[in-house]
Amino acid sequence: MSEPVYDQIGAGYATRRQPDPRIAAAILEAIGDAHRILNVGAGSGSYEPRDREVLAVEPSATMIEQRPPGSAPCVQGTAEALPVEDKSFDCAMAILTIHHWSNWRQGLDEMRRVADRAVILSFEPDFPDFWLTRDYLPEARELDRRTCPSPAEIVQHFGTGEIDVLPIPHDCIDGFHGAYWRRPEQYLDPEVRRSISTFARIATSARALERLAADLENGAWHRRNAALLALTSCDVGYRLIRADFSQQRAT
Ligand SMILES: C[S@@+](CC[C@H](N)C(=O)[O-])C[C@H]1O[C@@H](n2cnc3c(N)ncnc32)[C@H](O)[C@@H]1O
Repeated sequence: MSEPVYDQIGAGYATRRQPDPRIAAAILEAIGDAHRILNVGAGSGSYEPRDREVLAVEPSATMIEQRPPGSAPCVQGTAEALPVEDKSFDCAMAILTIHHWSNWRQGLDEMRRVADRAVILSFEPDFPDFWLTRDYLPEARELDRRTCPSPAEIVQHFGTGEIDVLPIPHDCIDGFHGAYWRRPEQYLDPEVRRSISTFARIATSARALERLAADLENGAWHRRNAALLALTSCDVGYRLIRADFSQQRAT
């Protein structure tokens, strides 16, 4: 296995990427009554339910080291070759990780091999309406198109599944790419950007940030995005996907 990307960019992740309780509630609702849960691409353990039997799988030692004391056990491995037996879990979850997989189809096949159900938090790679990618970082959309399947492709690959919009609260605690849609100045903070892999993966992002800083200073950002300031949550492209394989197995 080549050096996992998060061994280079993951230091300090757990301090800046805390689970958001509203997103946690949506994930928990999707997980339902599943008891044995596999968390694929588990990182430092965000969104792992505390009251279930959880096993985490994560390729990056840097991320595994940041799992807080008392977290679920974690094995080093990848989605494409899950180190667990067939049908050994009620639910496999994969939260904001699929865009990092080297082969998402293989990873999805593995989730279906080991679990009766899947819950995936991902995003629309072609989402047109988030100002950061639309107005400043169009390269991010090109990168996402290359690396991330759309939720519809995920459902199509599974041959079953439902897709729900996951609106992001204006004060989202988990500092991922779309978390600061109503707090644009946050993207100017290098500490904030350090836990958003987009910025590490796009070489031209410094120029985009200069333009954002100028637009915040001269009022252009506020003129273009005034309507957002009245919203308490917003669809910036995140989707919760759930699939139940039990019917497929029965036939
Ligand atoms: C943005 S982090 C999300 C971590 C965690 N799920 C969360 O919600 O905080 C993406 C994670 O995917 C992991 N990852 C990268 N490639 C992977 C692969 N092929 N299989 C499984 N996980 C992978 C990274 O090491 C990283 O921990």
